[in-house]
Amino acid sequence: RRQWLQTAVSLAAAAMPLRGRAAAGTTIRLSHVVAQDTPKGMALERFRTLVEERTAQRIRVQIFPQGRLYGDQDEMQALQLGAIDMVAPSLSKFGPIGFPEFELFDLPFLFNSVTDVRHITQGPVGQRLLNGLSRQRLLGLGYFDNGFKHMSANHALLEPAHFAGLRMRVQSSRVIAQQMRALGAWPITLPFSETRRALETGVVDGTENPVSNFYTQGMQAVQSDLSLTEHGYLGYAVVAHQRFWLGLPAADRTLVQDALREALAFGNDIADAHNDKALAALHVTGAVRIHTPTAAQRLRFKAAVMPVHADLARRIGQPWLDAVREALP
Ligand code: LMR
Repeated sequence: RRQWLQTAVSLAAAAMPLRGRAAAGTTIRLSHVVAQDTPKGMALERFRTLVEERTAQRIRVQIFPQGRLYGDQDEMQALQLGAIDMVAPSLSKFGPIGFPEFELFDLPFLFNSVTDVRHITQGPVGQRLLNGLSRQRLLGLGYFDNGFKHMSANHALLEPAHFAGLRMRVQSSRVIAQQMRALGAWPITLPFSETRRALETGVVDGTENPVSNFYTQGMQAVQSDLSLTEHGYLGYAVVAHQRFWLGLPAADRTLVQDALREALAFGNDIADAHNDKALAALHVTGAVRIHTPTAAQRLRFKAAVMPVHADLARRIGQPWLDAVREALP
């Protein structure tokens, strides 16, 4: 608690001059944890271009990628304190800050495609989830995709037997941790920025992510095998604090919201191609062995992890899961 207070004090001190700048309507500061050359990095860069073009740079967007300013553990706190104006965390990172219902998106084998995901994010369930963020005076400005996750380690991970005893790095989602336990592995929660190093030093044996994140972090140098399991979805939400948002003139809010909507649609359009490009690059460099599960292996994988759905229903209430299943085609 003492450490938290110290962090809070230093974040608040850092926030003060920045609030002044934001209030002048000049700069929107946006922090995220992945590389620029990823679906998320590109979507947010498009947002910057659109806002700056449309306001002739009256509003600037300053992007801090790769967790350079704030990482998984402190970006939400920084947002609460006004040290940063917008963040775009993965939907898997909302649980620990009081929104476990976002872990719906982490349920393995829930979605068959991003088109399926759209039935949730663009419908009433997605809106209800974003509305819930107001419990902490946060504002969810929109969802966007990365894609489907795959497993990596130093051997193929195609069915539960292959996971026995492995330490697998996970995001801060209880659903993902339970998924790893259901496969026989030990989940270790680590910030994204520490993952490559943890793999390199053997602190963890493997991890999961879409290929674009794997490739742009250079995980192929520290993992010998990538298994194309497509077992779960990874997406994001752009979040601002209400204080920042309401501090913008109404016309600017509309402009920013429109630019963001277009940028997130652009991100969704390029996400698949970006992941495919990263996979093609991995094939070309030959840096990692790439495996695809057989239909039978996929069935065994799925059977092992499905109990995780009931565990989440117990935590957040069955009606959430019913609403999701109803919305899916
Ligand atoms: C992670 O594994 O932490 C990532 O999914 C990061 C991200 O935002 O894509």
